[in-house]
Amino acid sequence: MADAVGNKIAKDYHLDIPAADTGFFVKGLGNTDWGMKNRLSRIFDPKSGNTVMLAFDHGYFMGATAGLERLDVTIAPLCEYADVLMATRGAIRSCIPPTANKAICLRATHDTSVLFEDLSTGSGMALDFEDAIRMNASALAIQCFIGGSGEAASVEALCRAADQGAKFGIPVLGVTAVGKEMARNEKYFMLATRMLAELGATFVKTYYIEEGFENVVAACPVPIVIAGGKKLPENEALDMAYKAIQAGAKGVDMGRNVFQSEHPVEMIKAIRKVVHEGFTGKEAFEFFTDAIN
Ligand code: R5P
Repeated sequence: MADAVGNKIAKDYHLDIPAADTGFFVKGLGNTDWGMKNRLSRIFDPKSGNTVMLAFDHGYFMGATAGLERLDVTIAPLCEYADVLMATRGAIRSCIPPTANKAICLRATHDTSVLFEDLSTGSGMALDFEDAIRMNASALAIQCFIGGSGEAASVEALCRAADQGAKFGIPVLGVTAVGKEMARNEKYFMLATRMLAELGATFVKTYYIEEGFENVVAACPVPIVIAGGKKLPENEALDMAYKAIQAGAKGVDMGRNVFQSEHPVEMIKAIRKVVHEGFTGKEAFEFFTDAIN
């Protein structure tokens, strides 16, 4: 292992040079097999190159949170507007009709519940690949606690999932979970996203940050999608999505900013405008307000 101290600080991300073309439209994944590419093409729209993932996996550690009290009532009507549904196998099997025919990203790790003070103690695998294949999963999401007490266990889960994913052609989404005591900044996300990508994540989910996000994206050799985070006013959430896409993110994996909106259908449609049609946050908010009126 190289020295951890006394190193020169990374600073040159060559933002003016596009990522190398590996012969496939998804960044860094040209050297994967046909099945992996086929699943990636269900996740990332081959036309725009981007994805709108609807995340409603919160119940796996939070229970029934606002907007997710009844998945069959609140989430099922949103499915047609998402490219990917990200949830637990329990939620998908019980509440999402198989005829929805959407790419599924299965939450594949379990963590401690909200009853515990430390939520970063680490994940174990919550399912095996056989069940993921049975559910026709297009990707598996593995939560990793870089810098948290569960770092080693969660990174181990990611590496083993990447092995199995490579074996069966199933992409692995590395999810950066930020502990309460950690700063959500460029330095942290630069480390966490790059670690997950190098250890085998096929794509990485992280948070948008106002400063240095484009550097984080440039230094990550595979696509980044952003989580939405806590509910914001719709114009702010649309603006955040716009800025993330402008900085090179390949989509959103958004939950509360969609299903906790008073107008979730109009909100996810507005998000699609930003992610797939190049709308600015302002234009998408105009679309949203027109749609709700
Ligand atoms: C959290 O439990 C999950 O990882 C969510 O999928 C993630 O945080 C995205 O949802 P939100 O946009 O609500 O943050």
